[in-house]
Amino acid sequence: MRIIMFTGKGGVGKTSIASATGIQSAKRGYRTLVMSLDSAHSLADSFDLDRRLMDRAKGKPVDVADNLAIQEVDVQEEVQEHWGEVHSYISCLLNVSGLEEVLAEELAILPGMEEVTSLLNINRYLKDDAYDVILLDCAPTGESLRFISLPTTLEWYMKKIFTVERAMFKVTRPVMKQLTSVPLPEDSYFQSLAVLYERLEGIDKLLTDADTTTVRLVTNPEKMVIKESQRAFMYFSLYGLCVDAVVINRVLPEEVGGYFDKWLEAQKKYIEDVHNCFSPVPTWQVELSRNEMIGIDDLARLGEDLYGDRDPTERFYAKNPLTFRKRNGKYVMTLQTPFITKEDIDLSKSGGELIVRIGNYKRHVLLPRSMAGREPSGAKLDGDKLTVTFGGKNG
Ligand SMILES: Nc1ncnc2c1ncn2[C@@H]1O[C@H](COP(=O)(O)OP(=O)(O)OP(=O)(O)O)[C@@H](O)[C@H]1O
Ligand SMILES: [Mg+2]
Repeated sequence: MRIIMFTGKGGVGKTSIASATGIQSAKRGYRTLVMSLDSAHSLADSFDLDRRLMDRAKGKPVDVADNLAIQEVDVQEEVQEHWGEVHSYISCLLNVSGLEEVLAEELAILPGMEEVTSLLNINRYLKDDAYDVILLDCAPTGESLRFISLPTTLEWYMKKIFTVERAMFKVTRPVMKQLTSVPLPEDSYFQSLAVLYERLEGIDKLLTDADTTTVRLVTNPEKMVIKESQRAFMYFSLYGLCVDAVVINRVLPEEVGGYFDKWLEAQKKYIEDVHNCFSPVPTWQVELSRNEMIGIDDLARLGEDLYGDRDPTERFYAKNPLTFRKRNGKYVMTLQTPFITKEDIDLSKSGGELIVRIGNYKRHVLLPRSMAGREPSGAKLDGDKLTVTFGGKNG
């Protein structure tokens, strides 16, 4: 199976690009699912489908063309199915603490449940061999980062906290019940968490295996949007996910002219910035169309513009272009560069960014917080891999 995540700042065109990719993938005969991870679902609107059709599907996949289905996960339905015990315990707890039952039930859908639900779905499709390609239309960046961090966080919780908590409650429940009116979690609560966790087994490996999963960052040629894409790129690299392409959507065509002269000029600079931030990951451009991208015909055209004759499910870049590690107390960053022979490496820092210059090559790298306050103390170029070591904290 192949999984591709489409992510980026709000409104940049994630849903449109994911849908357009879905159409191209299905045309090639791959059984394709486009799944929305955004609770503010807009896949059906993108495909111009009747809302009632989606409502009837209750969060299950809906066929939209040969080999192509879309899914807008319904967290309420899924919570009933997978989170029964957990949800009822938490809502009971909230209800006891004075909240109206309806509100308690609503609030007991904790942040993260939606993402876990989607992970459960993906894992099931994998086990059932239901699809060849799953395209994830992610929520704006922040939330999709939570999505990819979940397997790691869950594993930590299950290994470190869960077993201790469960054992503790087993022993203390009878005594504590006498002492407090707050409902205590029954063992069935822990049991259902354990079942959930089992169902998630393997998903973390799947997400960080570049043969299966890659990320496509959708961006626009605008300052703030690029900054956010850079941040996303850094976080995805930290989690070991492979970004295999960057899509610069809504590029103004030259013909707009006149009133947009300044925009056109600024955009040229920003497109160059995108190259500087993400190369050697390929960057593609898509023009702002004359109209909104609504319905299968518009989306198909968008897909053709984007991929041409290329197979959209290809891995367009297979290496992890950026890694951050701590080795023997030292922070080390590695960066893939296009093959460069010139050995003059110039490193400078501006804000939290490291600017790498090797001959004509220039690259801006946003650093994780732990490294942003440190100065680079050494750099080594080995073929196409640059290793930068960071020293002590500034100031
Ligand atoms: N290249 C393009 N040309 C013209 N219109 C576009 C283009 N790309 C996207 N749009 C339009 O821009 C709007 C926002 O796009 P879309 O919903 O795909 O963005 P998004 O990133 O998924 O937004 P959100 O963060 O709200 O989920 C839609 O109306 C879509 O039709
Ligand atoms: Mg969207």
